[in-house]
Amino acid sequence: MKKVITYGTYDLLHEGHIRLLERAKALGDWLIVGVTNDSFDRERGKLNVRNDVLERVDAVRATGLAVQIVIENYMGQKIDDILKYDVDIFAIGSDWEGKFDYLGEYCEVVYLPRTEGISSTMLRAASEQEIRIGVVGCGRIARRFVPEAAKVERAVVAGYYDTLREAAEQLAAESGAGVVYDSFEELVDAVDALYIATPHLSHYEQSRYALEHGKHVLCETPLVLCAEQAKELFAIAEHNGVVLLEANKTAFCPAFNHLVTLIKSGLIGDVVGIDASESKLWNEEELRRELNPDEAGGSLYEMGSYPLLPIVKLLGTQYDNLNLYSRLNDKGVDVYTRGIMLYSGAVASFQLGLGVKTEGNLVVSGTQGYAYIPSPWWKTDYFELRYEDQNKNKKYFYSWDEPGLRYEIREFLSAIVEGRLRSSRLTPEESVAMAEVMSRFTERKNFFEI
Ligand code: CTP
Repeated sequence: MKKVITYGTYDLLHEGHIRLLERAKALGDWLIVGVTNDSFDRERGKLNVRNDVLERVDAVRATGLAVQIVIENYMGQKIDDILKYDVDIFAIGSDWEGKFDYLGEYCEVVYLPRTEGISSTMLRAASEQEIRIGVVGCGRIARRFVPEAAKVERAVVAGYYDTLREAAEQLAAESGAGVVYDSFEELVDAVDALYIATPHLSHYEQSRYALEHGKHVLCETPLVLCAEQAKELFAIAEHNGVVLLEANKTAFCPAFNHLVTLIKSGLIGDVVGIDASESKLWNEEELRRELNPDEAGGSLYEMGSYPLLPIVKLLGTQYDNLNLYSRLNDKGVDVYTRGIMLYSGAVASFQLGLGVKTEGNLVVSGTQGYAYIPSPWWKTDYFELRYEDQNKNKKYFYSWDEPGLRYEIREFLSAIVEGRLRSSRLTPEESVAMAEVMSRFTERKNFFEI
């Protein structure tokens, strides 16, 4: 008996799907159809699949073409399925030409011509609007953002504004789309959502203006440097029914989220200690902006929200005590800051360096084991859970798509599409807590110069 397997989302099942399934079936005697589950699709960037996995399975079953239906849950499952079900042929539409050649080691790979003129995307687009995003601040990070947004369904970068008009024009030219606006207000007026990538000190005013005008905001980290301002912004967002999200890229990456879930599931027992560190040893010229005292430069403001993320996610936002120790340069900017946060039953510490090098790993210590996430842990793609009995140690691998901004853009877009005002991946309370640490530093309370 010849077994054939094929995979797809099969959203809003259409003629193209049916013709593909008919031809795949005709290649053998037994057709297995893999249907992607909802979270797998979401991780792949398909945010607006209309039918849930059960509806999609029902639709495939109703065609009467599949003998067996399996759910595709993870990357790499195709090989597992081919071996498990002893498959002879893997068939897929020609839009995937070449992408599955690697399966040739396990079975025959056949690309079937795709039916022209129809797709689930087209059917969805017929009734759905795109989310028009305006970019404010067209510097280094915005230049990474624009190509990443192109990878997220429904996201369209529609406009740009920068106080330096040439920067906006250059970015518009690079991306080949979108309008350059003369003022921030005109940009806000023209779009559905804003990506704010201006210097830290502009975040508050610009976010507030956009939120007050009913626009969703994805604001670069640090959102603001003061807890009161953060609270105010989230309150305005809630009042106006729009999304406000801090663009802390680590918070939205799949591997980091899995790490948090595993730790919260008790795999290393109770968390009693967290050590997180990040540093950049660039020369002074390269760090000019990061160390500029007039633009709230310094290691804590610049990078603090990364190590603070695992701390607030795993130990919560209510700490009992915070001590900060910094070495300042001649302009009074911290080139190195070490923070110690005391929680009931746990303690966390972090180190940040700009022009100072630290070991950039993350270690979470628990009563039954510890998690080790090597540098650069803020782009998590690999971690280990380690135990006294080393036989129990486990390594976890994931992919991290550079530069890693697509994850936060996906979450932002899906929050907008689903009308979800909070993201569990980075809650308003967590953003407020990070801003609170920044405020404590600003007030120089509890702060020691070394
Ligand atoms: N397919 C096809 N002809 C079409 C659409 C899809 O042959 N017009 C095939 C795909 O190549 C794939 C299978 O149907 O082998 C399932 O594809 P899926 O991704 O679910 O369908 P699309 O309509 O391409 O969905 P989307 O637009 O969301 O990518």
